[in-house]
Amino acid sequence: MASSSYFLVIALLALASWQTMASDPILVNGFVCKDPKDVKAEDFFLAAKLDMPRDTNTNKVGSNVTLINVMRLPGLNTLGISLARIDYAPLGENPPHAHPRATEILTVLEGTLYAGFVTSNPDNKFLSKVLNKGDVFVFPEGLIHFQFNPNPYKPAVAIAALSSQNPGAITIANAVFGSKPAISDDVLAKAFQVEKNTVDWLQAQFWADNHN
Ligand SMILES: *[C@@H]1O[C@H](CO)[C@@H](O)[C@H](O)[C@H]1NC(C)=O
Repeated sequence: MASSSYFLVIALLALASWQTMASDPILVNGFVCKDPKDVKAEDFFLAAKLDMPRDTNTNKVGSNVTLINVMRLPGLNTLGISLARIDYAPLGENPPHAHPRATEILTVLEGTLYAGFVTSNPDNKFLSKVLNKGDVFVFPEGLIHFQFNPNPYKPAVAIAALSSQNPGAITIANAVFGSKPAISDDVLAKAFQVEKNTVDWLQAQFWADNHN
């Protein structure tokens, strides 16, 4: 055996024994990756009560997103999927936002939703639908999208699946006008083609997150 490959074998053996002796858990994507022999049903289970309505009066947009991602359900680690229940007050909306790491497929369980997304540059084509109970709509990865409940009397409920264990969410208004610290109003006035005092007014609003 050539001395260089002999050295490589020794190095790999040392690494392997160090890994088995180490008391720290092995992390993958920053989350614990359990030894298969230690895995329990509970690692893949969460009593999330997704059958229960959520409170939609705590924010001005009138919606409440309950996301079951890898932070809540450790067994999702490396599996590329997550789930959300979304509750909408009458005239409530899940405001324009994007998921940097996931495509979303949504179905309406109760009520009606007006939903849409905008394609990337240069077309910025707006594709939208009115969804009734049982209908399904897809929001492709990374694109800005929203859902709005047009009914002034009845709430709506949707379930969405997302193609990432940690899809991430960028709520457009919150990120642009509610950043900490604020983006310069010179920058935003030019970008949005409005007066600086309009930007200042927007930046003075309270940009609440509708996610749990
Ligand atoms: C969502 O509803 C729950 C109660 O069902 C409430 O505790 C929580 O504050 C609400 N979250 C948001 C972001 O509105």
